[in-house]
Amino acid sequence: MNGKLIPIEPETGRLGPEELTPRRIVAELDRYVVGQDDAKRAVAVALRNRWRRLRLPPEIAFEITPKNIILIGPTGVGKTEIARRLARLVGAPFVKVEASKFTEVGYVGRDVESIIRDLTEIAMSMVREEERKRVAAEAKKRSEERLVELLLPRPPIQPRSGATEEERREYAEAVAHHERSLEKILGMLRSGELEDREVEVQIATSDNPVITAFSGAGLEGMGLDLGDMLKDLFPKKKRKVRLKVAEARKVIESEEAERLMDQEKVIREALERTETTGIVFLDELDKVVGGGSAHGPDVSREGVQRDLLPLVEGTTVKTKYGLVNTDHILFIAAGAFHHKKPSDLMPELQGRFPIRVKLSSLTKEDFTRILTEPKNALIKQYQALLGTEKLRLEFASGAVERLAELAEYINTHTQDIGARRLYTVLEALLEEASFEAADLDREQTLTITTSFIDERLEELAKDEDLSRYIL
Ligand SMILES: Nc1ncnc2c1ncn2[C@@H]1O[C@H](COP(=O)(O)OP(=O)(O)OP(=O)(O)O)[C@@H](O)[C@H]1O
Ligand SMILES: [Mg+2]
Repeated sequence: MNGKLIPIEPETGRLGPEELTPRRIVAELDRYVVGQDDAKRAVAVALRNRWRRLRLPPEIAFEITPKNIILIGPTGVGKTEIARRLARLVGAPFVKVEASKFTEVGYVGRDVESIIRDLTEIAMSMVREEERKRVAAEAKKRSEERLVELLLPRPPIQPRSGATEEERREYAEAVAHHERSLEKILGMLRSGELEDREVEVQIATSDNPVITAFSGAGLEGMGLDLGDMLKDLFPKKKRKVRLKVAEARKVIESEEAERLMDQEKVIREALERTETTGIVFLDELDKVVGGGSAHGPDVSREGVQRDLLPLVEGTTVKTKYGLVNTDHILFIAAGAFHHKKPSDLMPELQGRFPIRVKLSSLTKEDFTRILTEPKNALIKQYQALLGTEKLRLEFASGAVERLAELAEYINTHTQDIGARRLYTVLEALLEEASFEAADLDREQTLTITTSFIDERLEELAKDEDLSRYIL
């Protein structure tokens, strides 16, 4: 999400591939994105087509090229949002890249295959997370066993073979005592009584300064990460640390989970998922359209298009987990295409993006709906945030409409940033409440009325200079 606020409602359960009919996809997208029906339909169909293609015999499937999409529309009207929601909905690995990045100083020559490597990396963490969940219960059990061991006094030592009757009886008693302590400690551990007790834990450290310095210094062309390679060269150091049980549990649990996970399976699954369900969102595609002149930055723009072509046409990219074929990866491109048109793209690239959809500018009616309707609507987010203090936030009738109207007004009089305007307007409106909510000593309700809005925002909105800075 682009917003600065976290979504308040957890994702709904993902739909299985069978259920992902275009109609269902659109209905799901409707819960988050207002309007833009054509775009929703287009992405829904593209997704279904991919599913359809995978069910065809290989000879036919081979002939069918993915129906990639270009979303055309001004800034802040939902292009990225639609793509992002789509990816979440299907649980697909998703990356967003700005095509224009590749023409910038420092990026020129940056190899576009890194897009696919990033996608694979995302698939890896998705699958790893799932695998971690799968082994969580067992990891928890094992870490509990280890914690008990750390907390428990040493078990009694077995008497030597020639021990006396007396010694043997003492031993048996010690064993029984030990078992009782074990029970007791387990009980206390489970009820959370020992959280602050300290234990000594062995942990494997990866904070080798040499490795840290090289991490991220990827030798991109080869899909290698220097830090990763060094990690294998240096033996893993073990270090003893004293930790509180609460901390130690986290460390041990993740260590056990790591041990239980089937790394091979994770990699296989991640590669497969990248290939069959990956979605690449290519933003600002219009910025890599040349202007017709034969020199200057156009050369590099055309160059970026040329570089992108094989990815979109289907090629094999080497990643550090293995080869990834891009044949089935869905590309969704976006751009304002104000002055340039999709027809100014290289013909080969145009052919690979046969679906073009226009998104419309948002009206104040749309703004009203965006503020209130989506599952993660901005107003709901503020209500939830302030609700954690003693402040109830309410909107009197007409207030939301007034906000929408103001947002539209500011967009037309300064710069049109679409629905993003709602963020700045609402933030300015609720700045004081957000600051002061923490100091309230009793429950209060703040009712936002149209006059409250006018008082707070109208002056700002009318003064173009001020609104440029603040709204
Ligand atoms: N139609 C919409 N319905 C609901 N929310 C929207 C809609 N359009 C935009 N938003 C909100 O505005 C934010 C910005 O929208 P988004 O990132 O989709 O813009 P965009 O069309 O990709 O613009 P840009 O061309 O600048 O990338 C989103 O995070 C979302 O909260
Ligand atoms: Mg965008």
